[in-house]
Amino acid sequence: MIVLGIESSCDETGVAVYDTARGLRAHAVYSQVALHAEYGGVVPELASRDHVRKLLPLVRQTLDEAGIALREVEGVAYTAGPGLVGALLVGAGVARALAWALEVPAIGVHHMEGHLLAPLMRIDGEAAMAAPPAPPFVALLVSGGHTQLVHVEAIGRYRLLGETLDDAAGEAFDKTAKLMGLPYPGGPELARLAGEGRPERFRFARPMTDRPGLDFSFSGLKTQVLLAWQRSDGSAATRADIARGFEDAVVETLAIKCLRAVEATDVDTLVVAGGVGANLRLRAALDAAMRARGGRVCFPPPALCTDNGAMIAFAGALRLEAGQHADAAVQVRPRWDM
Ligand code: KG4
Ligand code: ZN
Repeated sequence: MIVLGIESSCDETGVAVYDTARGLRAHAVYSQVALHAEYGGVVPELASRDHVRKLLPLVRQTLDEAGIALREVEGVAYTAGPGLVGALLVGAGVARALAWALEVPAIGVHHMEGHLLAPLMRIDGEAAMAAPPAPPFVALLVSGGHTQLVHVEAIGRYRLLGETLDDAAGEAFDKTAKLMGLPYPGGPELARLAGEGRPERFRFARPMTDRPGLDFSFSGLKTQVLLAWQRSDGSAATRADIARGFEDAVVETLAIKCLRAVEATDVDTLVVAGGVGANLRLRAALDAAMRARGGRVCFPPPALCTDNGAMIAFAGALRLEAGQHADAAVQVRPRWDM
């Protein structure tokens, strides 16, 4: 089955073609980062308008790259939530209209289920590095909006083990970057700077690791960083050292809780998804920790960690193949539990 996937929940327009026989045929992402940079954050109305501008050209481009004609598309998947309502409606409207015109089924996908299943996707033309993970496994979902540990018992059967009580890990990266004066979007920039910093000069708390449980809390960390930054000499080297201290604190906290979750559920596979999964130090720490206990950790390639259409096409393809699809109403859910 050939499925067109559309992602437009926030500030990335993503389109992809997933072929259940061959894997991912093509995907393209247009980032609105430059558009929102001068405001220091995503402006919802501007995001919606830009999705309107970019979505159809991106559909054309992706189909061309995949070498697939529009009439060969057998299903359309789109992000139905959670996200910005106007942005979601653009993707849902285009997806529904295409499906209606092509007389094929359409399906709304939960954005986080897209992230969650992304590591299971095959990529056409690429030899698989290792067998894709299969449930049961534990998934760490770490994005700008979510930090969750989920027990994936089967595809479609998800049990929440723990989540953040305040800021998401990506949000903590972004806010901490902002208060240290780093350019928007701060998360990746802070991670890059941490690479230049020295470990251990600044040691911040590993929140909630000193008590049992699988929940997280990251909002206190940015306050600690703010105080350290305000009291410091403000030099470039100090800023890098603080960035390193912050990154180490987040990475170690995530790693401790991941291991706890893996032990509690007695699985041997950890899957990481969401934008923070692109963080190289997190990848290395989780890899070492899982190897040490004879298990493994699986990440999607970095480009499929952050928002993209491929994960939506893939998750949609699984559901469409299972016979699920929704009626023709253009419905989105800005807030939606998985
Ligand atoms: O999954 P995603 O693209 O969008 C959401 O659904 O939130 O995740 C974006 C988040 C941002 O908070 C960004 O700062 C963070 O992922 N991020 C990173 C890195 N790359 C992206 N955080 C830490 N290190 C990175 N290398
Ligand atoms: Zn996301």
